[in-house]
Amino acid sequence: MSFDRNEFTRAMARVPGPVTVVTTVDGSGRRWGFTASSFTSLSLSPPLVLVCMDRAASTHGAFLEAGHFLINVLAQDQADIARRFAESGVDRFGAGDTTPLELGMPGIRDAAARVACSTQSVLDGGDHSILIGRVEAAHVGGEDPLVYCDRAFRRAAGVGPATRMAPVG
Ligand SMILES: Cc1cc2nc3c(=O)[nH]c(=O)nc-3n(C[C@H](O)[C@H](O)[C@H](O)COP(=O)(O)O)c2cc1C
Repeated sequence: MSFDRNEFTRAMARVPGPVTVVTTVDGSGRRWGFTASSFTSLSLSPPLVLVCMDRAASTHGAFLEAGHFLINVLAQDQADIARRFAESGVDRFGAGDTTPLELGMPGIRDAAARVACSTQSVLDGGDHSILIGRVEAAHVGGEDPLVYCDRAFRRAAGVGPATRMAPVG
């Protein structure tokens, strides 16, 4: 059986993932951020998480240099924020939905959760870099999280077990 790139990406699109906005601030005080669904926990002792970042992204260099980052786990009514932080060539912070929160990094106040990290290491992940973060602070919000699956934003909570997830406009 030969590798089929298209089948691979379609298969991975079937894997439900979180929707996060990862932010940082560089040495000059400039804010950076991008939407990422590749966020996962890695270790409890020590507390580690990871997020994978496209080497070609305009934000890649800034995140490698910053030495810290904040994961905002978006709530189910925050799909618009996810779209904006994935868009190229726009002022992602222009709408004013972030404020300095954990470690002074741009935080989304009504996020489902936030995890603030110092960068422990950066590993090679093919065309992505794997940012491993040492967790410095965590916050649990009151909203249900947004989910990305089959290339659509969906609500995970409140639909009961083993039913279809509801798409979000
Ligand atoms: C739902 C969703 C999930 C994404 N997940 C990731 C991710 O895990 N890692 C990543 O590098 N880019 C991810 N992206 C793409 C980035 O948000 C962004 O579009 C990309 O870095 C290009 O940005 P640039 O214009 O700054 O180069 C995702 C986009 C969407 C809409």
